[in-house]
Amino acid sequence: MSTIPTPGPAASRLAARAFMRDGHILSALEALHDALGDVFQLPLPGFQAVMMVGPEANKFVLTESRDTFLWRAEGDPVTRLLRQGILVTDGAQHDALRQVITPALHRSLFERFVHAMWWNTDRVTSQWRQGSRIDLLEEMRRIALLILTDTLFSDDFNPRLGPLWQDILRVIRYISPGPWLIWPTIPRLGYQQAIHRLDGYLYRLIAARRAQPEQGSDLLGGLIASGMSDGLIRDQLLTMFIAGHDTSTALLAWSLYLLMTHPDSLARAQAEIDAIVGKQPPAYTHVRQLSYLDRVIKETLRLYPPIHLGSRITATDVVFQDIPIPSGTRVLYSLYLTHRDKKYWTEPATFDPDRFSPERASFHPPYTFLPFGGGPRNCIGAAFAQVEAKIVLARLLQRHEFRYVGGRARPRMRATLEPCPGVFVEARRRS
Ligand code: HEM
Repeated sequence: MSTIPTPGPAASRLAARAFMRDGHILSALEALHDALGDVFQLPLPGFQAVMMVGPEANKFVLTESRDTFLWRAEGDPVTRLLRQGILVTDGAQHDALRQVITPALHRSLFERFVHAMWWNTDRVTSQWRQGSRIDLLEEMRRIALLILTDTLFSDDFNPRLGPLWQDILRVIRYISPGPWLIWPTIPRLGYQQAIHRLDGYLYRLIAARRAQPEQGSDLLGGLIASGMSDGLIRDQLLTMFIAGHDTSTALLAWSLYLLMTHPDSLARAQAEIDAIVGKQPPAYTHVRQLSYLDRVIKETLRLYPPIHLGSRITATDVVFQDIPIPSGTRVLYSLYLTHRDKKYWTEPATFDPDRFSPERASFHPPYTFLPFGGGPRNCIGAAFAQVEAKIVLARLLQRHEFRYVGGRARPRMRATLEPCPGVFVEARRRS
């Protein structure tokens, strides 16, 4: 048996140098991975965690010993925020919630969802003035919020976008990595009001639907029909609200950033959209046909997975590749490092959508590309998110020319991996 590798002075120096060079922690983690291998102790004072990388580790954490790896960490802000939401529960309680929520994302509903996806995209873009400078990170959040609430809550969120905007950003910051990682009891002032206002919105939605239950067979309707209490419904709605829009925001913003900064890919994507979709709104039948756009989305998810790591707590002692990991350890499986591992990807830092072409895609072994996680706790919205990304991008590129006016974006760890400081463009309607 060996012990969990811990960064010594040499590895720490490499990590510090990578951090200084690129300005983000992910590069430092890449350096540690290169130096120490697929399992290593994270060198943060006060935050004990083991980083696990690569297909064997991913499979081990996600499928092989599911009951051994628990999601819920009582003191974490995400658990305090989502209470009994599907994302932060385990075992039988998690499985029961999953059964109630799954039908709301069934493929048979996608045709209606597609309409909501392009229609809400148009609502946001109709506010853009010709040639004015906009931040696509912000704009994609607007679009993703309108789509999520329209499709799953049958609610028009547009009037609340302004009043709740800062509250949503605060709630996301509340669950983002920060000083609480090394000082768990640090006072988190100023967040409770934001959470309270968001709760107010959700409880009003629940009350209105209870008063008129015939109004919809969407997620909200399904939760009410299952007999859950208002509190438990609030937990699921808030989970879907955050998990279902913040991730899509990041994916859309990174996709556009990568397209803007790779003009050949942008031209190819736009030509494909023009040929397949033409001037009509994109339809569900187009989703399968937009194969180049599909590669762009996959390559974006590889380079900048919105959820760049998953966190679990070991419920028993485990042994992985001869390394003992004691019960109660926080284990982090890193999608970001797996997606950029030189063992599985050639020129991993290069944006190359064609690595997902049918001829080349088969070279990626299972569990080397897992932007939506894997096993029984994989992303419940994976199919929804991929259709949404295609429809929104197709609609944006079909109707707009973008001129990139920002600098180089670096990944910033919030609740998801965001392009920082934003994705700045001038947008014009195509003639
Ligand atoms: C680009 C978009 C998205 C990405 C990259 C993404 C990624 C992920 C990942 C990696 C996980 C597993 C996390 C883990 O193992 O700890 C996950 C879980 C989850 N996702 Fe997504 N997601 C996306 C969109 C969505 C959408 C649109 C929804 C809802 C409509 C959603 C709802 C959820 C929920 C509820 C879970 C927890 C599932 C469970 O524990 O059973 N996600 N997502």
